[in-house]
Amino acid sequence: MFVGAKCIALCDEFGWYRENFPSRPMIVDGRFLFLDNRPQTVDHGQSSIVNGQEFGGYMLDKLNEIEKAALESLSAIADQSALDAWRVANVGRSSPLMQVFAGFGKLSKEERPVVGAEANRVKAALESALEEKSQAVKNAALAKSLEEEKLDVTLPGREVHVGRLHPSNQQLRRVLAILAEMGFQVYTSREVETDEMNFQMLNFAPHHPAREMQDSFYVEAEGREDNPILMRTHTSPGQIRAMREAAATNPQNPPPIRIALPGMCYRYEQITARSEIQFNQVEGLAVGEGITFADLKGTLTDFARRMFGQDARVRFRASYFPFTEPSAEVDVECFVCGGKGCQVCKNSGWLEILGCGMVHPNVLQNGGYDPKRYTGFAFGMGPERQLMLRNKINDIRYFWGNDVRFLEQF
Ligand code: PHE
Repeated sequence: MFVGAKCIALCDEFGWYRENFPSRPMIVDGRFLFLDNRPQTVDHGQSSIVNGQEFGGYMLDKLNEIEKAALESLSAIADQSALDAWRVANVGRSSPLMQVFAGFGKLSKEERPVVGAEANRVKAALESALEEKSQAVKNAALAKSLEEEKLDVTLPGREVHVGRLHPSNQQLRRVLAILAEMGFQVYTSREVETDEMNFQMLNFAPHHPAREMQDSFYVEAEGREDNPILMRTHTSPGQIRAMREAAATNPQNPPPIRIALPGMCYRYEQITARSEIQFNQVEGLAVGEGITFADLKGTLTDFARRMFGQDARVRFRASYFPFTEPSAEVDVECFVCGGKGCQVCKNSGWLEILGCGMVHPNVLQNGGYDPKRYTGFAFGMGPERQLMLRNKINDIRYFWGNDVRFLEQF
């Protein structure tokens, strides 16, 4: 170390050039302090120069550079991970700054406080710059996420569409639930039938004009002219199948029957607002000993009340079906106008809801039930028709039109 003017003298004494000296002389305790970074080790009495790398002047310059470079690279940082890397590189344990602290042992007593103060100042400056930057990065990240993940709580939520039963099935199940309460068990029968079951066993003669009421889709006719295969036109052939199945369990003493037969029926008709080529029916059949028309009336009156309300009035009109005798059609008092007359009931005050009758003796016979001993009643209704009446639907084509705007109303 060289102190004061003595330095120059010593320089001259040893033949050194000014250029060899560090750029910044410092004033410590009112004296000049020249800090050297020359690599040699020279003993010159009053002071010693030991490995210039570690010398104070060099250190001050180095601290200056460290600070400048660190602050410069910090200013370019915009995200947290770069900031973390910067922290490790610039104020971390093996950062150049910390190496300056580690090198204090090699400084002389005079140099130490000077370099120490400067090192501490740089450390504090870097730490406060880091703190400031860290806050700025956090604020920027928050602002960015607020901008990008904007949540407008005033927007209506997205509607979740929940599937549900088709309106026909809903009505079908309402009908079956009521009949189940009244003791009718569900019996499902086939949709593809033979002419024999669909017509002949139900007392339709081969060329009976009643067949005209139910024009059919024939599936297979070739080679079976007497008994073509067709899509069932009504659920009534299920009566024969159910009776035969029950009678087979005890042919001498067939058990009583009380069943409901639901399902799709098909007719070869022009599709209009009032008629479709396919529709559901629910058939009812009760067979046993001593069943009378009074049971039929009581059962259907009760059904109408359960379906249309306790005050629902019904009336029975004489009608004709080949498989029932006597036959009737049941009307329920118009629930739209209360019987006064309106568009829905076409001013009659009544709405037709089903056909019914006492099972024809020939049909009982065909089913394996002796008509001398057994009697029974049957009825058939259309769930779509009931829904149309109930909800003032004026076009039956909506049911299979698959228009969600219609379906989602149920
Ligand atoms: N099967 C008849 C029809 O489709 C309805 C009916 C069923 C009538 C049972 C009487 C008895 O029109």
